[in-house]
Amino acid sequence: MLIHTVNEVREAVNSWKKENLTVGLVPTMGALHEGHLSLIKKAKETCDRVVVSDFVNPIQFGPSEDFDKYPRTLNEDMKLCDNEGVDIVFAPSADEMYQKGQRLSNDTLTYVCPPFFYVNTLCGKSRVGHFDGVCTVVLKLFNIVQPDYAFFGQKDAQQVIIIKKMVNDLNVPVKIIQCPIVREASGLALSSRNKYLSEDGKKDALVLSKILKNIKSCYDKGVTDVAALKETAYGFLNDKHDMEYLEIVDRDNLENKIKADDNSIALIALRVENVRLIDNIYLKD
Ligand code: PAJ
Repeated sequence: MLIHTVNEVREAVNSWKKENLTVGLVPTMGALHEGHLSLIKKAKETCDRVVVSDFVNPIQFGPSEDFDKYPRTLNEDMKLCDNEGVDIVFAPSADEMYQKGQRLSNDTLTYVCPPFFYVNTLCGKSRVGHFDGVCTVVLKLFNIVQPDYAFFGQKDAQQVIIIKKMVNDLNVPVKIIQCPIVREASGLALSSRNKYLSEDGKKDALVLSKILKNIKSCYDKGVTDVAALKETAYGFLNDKHDMEYLEIVDRDNLENKIKADDNSIALIALRVENVRLIDNIYLKD
């Protein structure tokens, strides 16, 4: 069922809660692909009822980012969700989420600001304010849907770490379930932004997963020095790749490491054809 308003979602969820049914939420920005569907499948396995939110959240995009051109495919998303047996697709307008006429800035709107140490690194460095926008919309969705479980992908590793931290710090009564990265057979991590790439660009984009796999296999062979592990990337790069970061940090709190260990995660962001792509890998599964 497609729902556009907060009140209607609340009504539906209240009726489920009266029947003691568990509720799962899968927050998305739509343009659904197999990565999103893996979260939805996990939610279906875990919960009696599943809500998928489909909302391109304006406050998590910077002024020079792709908010306007972000793919919006609600009709196809609905079909995919129906196939998976999703109970509600919640697709609010921006006015429904952020009171009509309200200026979307932290002068006028209450924001959730995750801790500096978690945002002043990796994606947060180039995407200033991004995680404030993510946490704000995610907490709003939690308050609207009041799910027992919410499902997030490891694909956006910094995002899920920050959301777990928010839930913990603010005592939000929801259990966060993290799901593994879904990749094409080529190794390319699925992303709604892959749609911006040409066929050649998709081949050039394989460099992200190649660099990460190689770092993991060097670690498996006993290399732990982070600088040495990062150096291994250079052999893969050419002038089609515009590197933003490659870091090896703690997978729970994003702390930098000098020596990698079994709790480390390698994360990469780079641009191909001016499309910003991210990927990551746990050094130990
Ligand atoms: P979006 O990019 O649509 O992603 C929705 C969820 O799908 C996220 O939890 C993301 O990590 C997961 N996902 C995306 N690609 C995946 C892949 N290849 N494998 C597994 N999971 C994948 O992330 C957002 O939206 C937004 O920031 C949101 C949390 C909805 C807040 O607006």
